[in-house]
Amino acid sequence: MLKEDHKRAKKAFRDFSKLQEEGDEAGCQALAEQTCKELQLHMRLEEEVFYPAARGGLDEEDLIEEAEVEHGSAKTLIEQLSSLSPEDAKFSATFTVLGEYIKHHVKEEEGEMFEQLGRSKVDWDSLLEEMLARRMELEGELGLDAAEEEGETEEQAAARMAASSDEAKSRPSQGKGVR
Ligand SMILES: [Fe+2]
Ligand SMILES: [Fe+2]
Repeated sequence: MLKEDHKRAKKAFRDFSKLQEEGDEAGCQALAEQTCKELQLHMRLEEEVFYPAARGGLDEEDLIEEAEVEHGSAKTLIEQLSSLSPEDAKFSATFTVLGEYIKHHVKEEEGEMFEQLGRSKVDWDSLLEEMLARRMELEGELGLDAAEEEGETEEQAAARMAASSDEAKSRPSQGKGVR
């Protein structure tokens, strides 16, 4: 789940620079807004549920502190973006810098944190369940309703979430669902 988010974020930053080259200001603004919301959701999910659960499974616990400091910088940039108008040259510069931060951060999470956790005894099934539940709440809170975006009904969205949780449960390959 977290790796999927990372992949989507990295693609969004690539798409942004394409839109920027094409001079599509409205497209840039919409994409930046959506991406910032998704990043906020992802960071809160990690901070509230994933990092506390991951801490005990790491060889180097200070990876969590580093990650939290990096989230802090990303949040500051997101805040700055929200006060800039998309015509401002600083707008795309800020979003681009955010992309570079995120790229670095993702590299550390996937390359170090997830790597160390792969060798640990984290209870992946209950962690995934907790993360799915919190994710749905945060989607509502941040106005990131998957049902609205993809034209799904709420029932369809709930079924999809449940299915991905079941799928993860039936997979013994530890932690694939969470990470
Ligand atoms: Fe993170
Ligand atoms: Fe992450």
